[in-house]
Amino acid sequence: MARAIGLLLLLAHVLSMAAAATRYPRCNAGDRAALLAVRAAFNNASYFQSWTPDIACCHWYGVDCGGDDYDYDPSDDDRVLSLAIIRDDNVTGAIPAEAIAGLTSLRGLMFFKVPGVTGPIPEALANIPGLTDLTISRTGVSGPVPSFIGDKLTALQSLVLSFNSLTGAIPPNLGNLPSLTYIDISRNQLAGAIPPLLLSKAGRKNQTAVSLKLSHNNLTGTIPAEFGAVNFMEIDLSRNQLTGDASMLFGEGKEELDGVYLSRNALSFDMSQLQLPRQLGSLGVSHNFVYGTIPAKAAQLEMLNVSYNRLCGAVPTGGNMASFDAYCFQHNKCLCGAPLAPCNH
Ligand SMILES: *[C@@H]1O[C@H](CO)[C@@H](O)[C@H](O)[C@H]1NC(C)=O
Ligand SMILES: *[C@@H]1O[C@H](CO)[C@@H](O)[C@H](O)[C@H]1NC(C)=O
Ligand SMILES: *[C@@H]1O[C@H](CO)[C@@H](O)[C@H](O)[C@H]1NC(C)=O
Ligand SMILES: *[C@@H]1O[C@H](CO)[C@@H](O)[C@H](O)[C@H]1NC(C)=O
Ligand SMILES: *[C@@H]1O[C@H](CO)[C@@H](O)[C@H](O)[C@H]1NC(C)=O
Repeated sequence: MARAIGLLLLLAHVLSMAAAATRYPRCNAGDRAALLAVRAAFNNASYFQSWTPDIACCHWYGVDCGGDDYDYDPSDDDRVLSLAIIRDDNVTGAIPAEAIAGLTSLRGLMFFKVPGVTGPIPEALANIPGLTDLTISRTGVSGPVPSFIGDKLTALQSLVLSFNSLTGAIPPNLGNLPSLTYIDISRNQLAGAIPPLLLSKAGRKNQTAVSLKLSHNNLTGTIPAEFGAVNFMEIDLSRNQLTGDASMLFGEGKEELDGVYLSRNALSFDMSQLQLPRQLGSLGVSHNFVYGTIPAKAAQLEMLNVSYNRLCGAVPTGGNMASFDAYCFQHNKCLCGAPLAPCNH
């Protein structure tokens, strides 16, 4: 009996191996060698425990050779398309870009919540021209946002470099990337102005909507007027030192705009003139120098915060207005009406 069960278990094991082998007939030898070099560069950290010879490399933890996310050629199903090194404090060292560049079919690369990964964003990543999604977030990575990203990573669709220690200016050539629709470089120490051409290609009106998140940096200057022609879905520029106008972000043509976050800057514009698009859900402009009155259309918003500005006049009524408390309107020049004190006429 025990022997029969043993045989059955063996058979089940052989069958499951065969199933895996059908899905991933081989593990590309070059990709396997590149992955082993990545593992060695990180001193064989425990994160890489499953990266053993008896398991095809497509099944190693953090490694993916296909799946629904990618529109891949089935004849290439032994190729590594994505590598993710996530949520581990024991992975330490610089990004081993030369080893990673050995994964010549790579489309997605993610370092997330690995605080021991340090050093600059290495230039050798430029040798992975097929990269569509690059995430280096919540790491110890420092130095500039390198210009090779805009020059060489021409397939890039999503660039997430948030929660690191990046310094310097945003390279204007990110605007050259024709498919880049998602940029998140929030929570770094970026300085200088926002380049006018950022997202100007991919996000042109009537093209795919784009998102831009640059909050919690040290950016200065004005919001580029060119952003008026960008089809934004979400834009978060809060907690910088931006000045001047922001009204170009709004307007009736902004048909996919969902969230605009501008709080804690030094922006100064007339809110009465804002054309809030019909579907806009969130608007945060607290801690700026915004003046004028709150437009009646603000009543359609799901999130509104205009506190600490220079607004005047009656708070609109109806719509969702009753869901906003006094803290959303406090510290303005002369706003009145519920939830603030009544207007005295
Ligand atoms: C990592 O493991 C490989 C294979 O087991 C071994 O050859 C290499 O010396 C190890 N490297 C480190 C830094 O531990
Ligand atoms: C990191 O290393 C420590 C000490 O070796 C270990 O206890 C811990 O489980 C490791 N963490 C992870 C996520 O592997
Ligand atoms: C912004 O710059 C100021 C001085 O220029 C500095 O004290 C501050 O730490 C910087 N903030 C960030 C988030 O980098
Ligand atoms: C966008 O498309 C609409 C119709 O689909 C057209 O009327 C409008 O002119 C286009 N706008 C731009 C900027 O191409
Ligand atoms: C609005 O902003 C003010 C000032 O930063 C803050 O105190 C308040 O909690 C915010 N309200 C909401 C609902 O976010």
